[in-house]
Order: sequence, then structure tokens, then C-alpha cells
Amino acid sequence: MNSFNSISSDVKMGQDVRLSKFINLYGCEIVDETKIGAFVEIQKNARVGKRCKISSHSFICEGVEIEDNVFIGHGVMFINDSYPRATTAEGELKTEANWKVERTVIRKGASIGSGATILSNVNVGENAIVGAGSVVTRDVPSNSIVAGNPARVLRLIEPEEKTSDTESIPFLDLVTPHLELETELVDVFRRGLRTAGFVGGSMVDGFEKAFASFCDASHCVAVSSGTDALRFALMACGVRPGDVVLTVPNTFIATTEAISQAGALPEFIDIDERTSNMSVDALQHFLGSQCTQDSFGKPVSKRSGRPVTAVVPVHLYGQMADMDPILRLAEQFGLIVVEDACQAHGAEYFSRDLNRWMKAGSMGRAAAFSFYPGKNLGACGEGGAVTTNDAEVAGLIRMLRDHGQVKKYYHDVEGYNGRMDAIQAGLLHAKLPHLAAWNALRRDRAVEYNSLLADNEALSLPYEPSWSRAVYHLYVIRTRDRAGLMNQLKVAGIGTGIHYPIPLHLQTAYASLNYREGDFPVAERVAAEIVSLPMFPQLTVKQQSRVAAEVLAFASNSLQTAGR
Ligand SMILES: Cc1ncc(COP(=O)(O)O)c(C=O)c1O
Repeated sequence: MNSFNSISSDVKMGQDVRLSKFINLYGCEIVDETKIGAFVEIQKNARVGKRCKISSHSFICEGVEIEDNVFIGHGVMFINDSYPRATTAEGELKTEANWKVERTVIRKGASIGSGATILSNVNVGENAIVGAGSVVTRDVPSNSIVAGNPARVLRLIEPEEKTSDTESIPFLDLVTPHLELETELVDVFRRGLRTAGFVGGSMVDGFEKAFASFCDASHCVAVSSGTDALRFALMACGVRPGDVVLTVPNTFIATTEAISQAGALPEFIDIDERTSNMSVDALQHFLGSQCTQDSFGKPVSKRSGRPVTAVVPVHLYGQMADMDPILRLAEQFGLIVVEDACQAHGAEYFSRDLNRWMKAGSMGRAAAFSFYPGKNLGACGEGGAVTTNDAEVAGLIRMLRDHGQVKKYYHDVEGYNGRMDAIQAGLLHAKLPHLAAWNALRRDRAVEYNSLLADNEALSLPYEPSWSRAVYHLYVIRTRDRAGLMNQLKVAGIGTGIHYPIPLHLQTAYASLNYREGDFPVAERVAAEIVSLPMFPQLTVKQQSRVAAEVLAFASNSLQTAGR
């Protein structure tokens, strides 16, 4: 202690606290080993944790809590009242009795640059860095760097451990992108709460317009899930109860659930071995040889005796199906085409027929998208959308999603409760401007995997035809000993998945369709060998190298075991 300091007797001072001169402390708590510079004032009920460094000329007011290991630069100002007034409404000078203190917390390990101002009711997250001179007006996410007035997130800090050789690598990291956009996303929640416009309204309209434009489609109708999007699209496009709708057996069950929920019957077409998407040859063979024609020349499935009215090509793993020949066959046989684009936001296809690149969602009569959180564009919950260039189809879907109403309480048909929440639409709209960059990062990661894993006989890698620009919702390789590879990666702390292990025609849910093993040999062979490796935009090259090293080590072992 020294005589230039003013330290009242109610200050709780820990061990080895180091004080400079001209310090004013009262009613506060300073924990062990903290260092306080000259001309600092710390008011009552403020707390400064262990091993903090508070630089000179900073002002820490009542209501501020600073956790351990925090750095406070020079001249940092805290505020504890959003609307300070000198006098009460009656004109009396305000006293403590009419002062309501608002709290501010600076979490462990954070650093606040010199000259920053931290408004009240703010939480600065662990290890965050606030740039010098910033004005912090709202919460700062952990491990982020913010700067400016008002302070905005510039980027996230890479934790040092990320470069370690033993870190676990998740199959999908959903936390980082949300932290990166935390400020914008929380703003959407606030807007939702302040207007209480939770259903429909401008947030939904705004997202629909933006997503239609992203997909190069004239209309987008936001709904409550990808499954509803598919079901409504099929119904609005004219699929009727009793119809047959063709799709592939290697998709997520939602594709066929939507077909059944529209009252139709799913029948399957085998896939192309290289792309894992619908085989055009198999589709042609089915329509030509496994159907008879009714009196109007429309195909009738020999298998079920029912009219075939639609086909749902699935743009699996983020790569579009070969749409030109599918559309030509559909035209020839009078079929409706509904794209299942639930995994393909932003994927592109070079149409040789139109001589230009086309976006997923712009080629069929309608297309369904899912915004399930793990998708390339994911909601913070459930969501889906239909895109279409057909105004009538869009109008019907608007009715179907909203109890069949054309206007409130005027129901033309029975519909569904299938609307998208306004807050989800707002969140998706906030994320949408980042989608192209995220997709580009996924493509970069795919190129990197392709080169790291190239030319290995035990592996087969994703095939991207020259007419495709895939968006790698998943990066799926094939290997004979899939269980062995997955086990090796699991032991190394690397997440994997199988999309999907049992083709739909062999699922118990479809036993009544009477398909047998061997009916779709390509889909069955592929299902036994596929494994999805970690794939997300924030995956680092270093992490990929570790995944690839484990995969290659496994592959060379399996080749040796096979006696090659
Ligand atoms: C190919 C495919 N179709 C349909 C869906 C259904 O979407 P949702 O889960 O949003 O209902 C999904 C999503 O998982 C999917 O991957």
C-alpha cells in the first residue's frame, strides 16, 4: 500500500495483489495475483478475478464482474446504466436509492483493448478480444474478435489445440458457424420478440424472395420441413392418390414418406454406380419395359398396375442428377418432375440442352429443399421450401401449407399446418448471404480430399462429371471393409457416417411393397461400401490431412491383408 492510493476498508483484497499509484478502490473485491495500474477506479460491488491485468486510467463501475485471467487495456470505460440521468422526474438529484445498476460480465481469459467502452447489460465471452477503441453494445461471443462502433465480430480465434495430432475431428461442426454469426442471429430473435410476428409476415416473405433468387427460380414457398416441401410439391404439381411416383432406393426415407403422404406409391429406379444418382438407363428401361401404356399412351407400372405420373430425382450428397435426359424422358412419358434438392442448395448442372449452367431447384416443375440444421443452409430447427417457376403451383402450395386457406377462414381445400416459423425464416435469411462462400469452401475441401486420397485401389472417391458443380453436402467414399475403416477412424477420434446403410426397398417399413434383395443391385452394392468423411466449411486442411492419413493407413493395411 502507499499513501497516494485511496483504498477504503471495505475492499476485499486477495493475496499478492499488485497496486500502482493513484488508485481509488471502494467496496469492491480484487482476487489473488491481480495487477492494477495507476489512476484506476473500481467501485463498490465490482469484482475482479484472479491474475487479471487492469491497465492505467481504466474505470470499473458498480455491477461489473471481471472473471479470472482477463486483460483490461488503458482507459477502458464501463457503464452500468443505459439511460443515466442526473435528476429524478421531480428534479431532485438522483441518489443510489433511485439508481438501478445493470450488470456487465467479462468472462475468463478475455482481453479488452485500450480506450474501449463497454456498455451495460453486456457479456463478453471467454477468450474474446475487444479491439482498442471499440464500443461494445451487445454480447460478444466466446473466442471471437470484435471491433468498431458498434463492435462487430471480425472473426473467430482458432484455438491452439486445433493443430494437435490427437484432437478429435467431428463429422460435422455446427457450433462454429453459429458462433461466427451469433450477433446477426440473436438480432433476428430480438426482432421476432419485439414484433411478436411469429408466423408469416415480412421475415418469411423476405427469405422466400431471397431464396428464389438464389435458386434462379421465380417462386419460393417456405414450409415447415423438407418432407412437407416434397409432399406439397407433389400434390400441387398434380400427383393423385393411387399414382406411382418413381425415385431412387438410396435416399433418406423422407423422399418416399412424402410420396406416400401424397397418397401415391413409391417405385424404385436403380442408381448410376459412379454418381450414386438416378440411372438414366434404368429409368428408360423401366418406362420402356416395365410399364404398359394406357389408352392415352401414359405409362402404367406392370408391378402395381397403377399409373406412373411423376419422377423424383434426388440430388444426393449435393450433386445434381443428370437432369437433361430425365426431363426428356419425363416429357416423352408425360411425367411430372419434382427435384429432391434437400441436400443440394446451390448445386449446379450444365444443361447441354439449354447450353447453360442451371441451379438446383430451377429445373423440375418444382423442387423441395430441407433446412434441417446440418444441411448446407440449415435453420436453427426445422424448415423447408419449395421452389418453382410455376405461379399456379406456388399458389397451391401456399394454400396447402396454411390449412387450404386462400384468405383467413376461407378454405378451398383441406390443407396442413406446414408453415415456416418467421424466426426460422429470419435466421435463414441472415445465413443465406454466406451460403455461396460456404459451398465454395466445401468444394475446396472436396478437392483437397480428392488429392490426398487419390489413386488408391482400396478406395473409390466421389465422381463429379464435367456437367456438375456439386456442393458436397457430404463427401462419401467407398471401401470394401467399411466397418474396419469406420472403426479405425473412431479410435482416432474422427467422426464418420453412412448415408444410407439400408436401401429403402429393403427397409421393414416397405416390406409390403414386396421388393427383394437383388432388385436394385447397384444401390445395394453401394450401400454396403459407403462411408461419409468429415465435411463442413470450417474443416481445416490440417484436420483433413489427419483424416486422410488415417484413411490411407487403413487402405494400405487392407491391401496388404488382401495379399496385394
Ligand atoms: C434427400 C432428402 N430428402 C428429404 C429430406 C427431408 O427433409 P426434412 O428433414 O427437412 O424433412 C432430407 C433431409 O434429411 C433429405 O436428405
